[in-house]
Amino acid sequence: MPLVFEDVENHVQHNGNDHSSANEISSALCCGANGESYNLGKRIDPEDKRLLNCRQVDVNQLMPLKYEWAWEHYLNGCANHWMPTEVPMQRDIELWKNPHGLNEAERQVILRNLGFFSTGESLVGNNIVLAIFKHITNSEARQYLLRQAFEEAIHTHTFHYIVESLGLDGREVFNMYHEVASIEGKDKFVMALTEDVLAPNFSTQSAEGMKKFVKNLVGFYVIMEGIFFYSGFVMILSFHRQNRMTGIGEQFQYILRDETIHLNFGIDLINTIKLENPEIWTPDLQQDIYDLIQEAVEYEVLYARDCLPDGVLGLNEGLFREYVQFIADRRLERIGLQAVYGSKNPFPWMSETIDMAKEKNFFETRVTDYQSAGTLQWED
Ligand SMILES: [Fe+2]
Ligand SMILES: [Fe+2]
Repeated sequence: MPLVFEDVENHVQHNGNDHSSANEISSALCCGANGESYNLGKRIDPEDKRLLNCRQVDVNQLMPLKYEWAWEHYLNGCANHWMPTEVPMQRDIELWKNPHGLNEAERQVILRNLGFFSTGESLVGNNIVLAIFKHITNSEARQYLLRQAFEEAIHTHTFHYIVESLGLDGREVFNMYHEVASIEGKDKFVMALTEDVLAPNFSTQSAEGMKKFVKNLVGFYVIMEGIFFYSGFVMILSFHRQNRMTGIGEQFQYILRDETIHLNFGIDLINTIKLENPEIWTPDLQQDIYDLIQEAVEYEVLYARDCLPDGVLGLNEGLFREYVQFIADRRLERIGLQAVYGSKNPFPWMSETIDMAKEKNFFETRVTDYQSAGTLQWED
């Protein structure tokens, strides 16, 4: 932190004029990623707000809101607050350490899921903080992104907690995205979309830049969190349905509930950027998105083959192909594109699980406890 103060001092001396320096500093704080400057003396008209390339509004001022959906997602995220360490792991530990508790194929499914999610959560968090955040020139959307980034940290914490509880080798689990080809393939696929936005000359000023940005959002919100994560949920929740590995299962239920909101926010974000910038929604961008999603489906089928080569718990590669195609179609429709596969959902119980996640009593009472604990009681 001293470095920051030193820099500001140097800046003042260099300019030799405190007033202009202060303006430059406040302008730097208020500007969007592309250096847009705002009329700081004018109170905000919410109609001037834009998700990208906003030039009229100070991004430090939350109110008045324009995008009520972003605020709603933020409130829902806060209402669902949880910590992994509250979930008891004793039964999982007993089952995992019992040599006859799980067979090798079952252990492989669990380990490959931990291997994918443990680093996948960090890729999502880092994409928000390093790539997306500075380009979103709207305070309520940024408020949600800050909440989501913390939730991704909680999800990464979950895998630390599981690894420690079960006595696994953390280096093996967290390095699996370099060691298992099907995990590496999925992660490299989304990391390339982060790199596009981190490129030195990247800007959302041009239609081409905005298209790249939308492809990043599709890659993370629709594909990573909306497709890749969901087949992992099916695998782990299948154990939970059999009353096995219930601690990890409960943690995945919490993560699933968070990820449902992340997906919904991402879809609202993409659709609103489309509305505000209709010129970018061209046939070539739409085709690029179809291609990305179809490529992702193939990565996910490879991953399912790797996780359960001989089938486990009644799950196999064929069922996962159907499931991944089914959810890919649903995601395409939600961003205004056509379904391409026409597959049926082989795991209808997943829809019930997601629907139940919206009900209050699906989880134990801890979530409600957080809400009431957040209400301060002042005495005297
Ligand atoms: Fe997450
Ligand atoms: Fe997420």
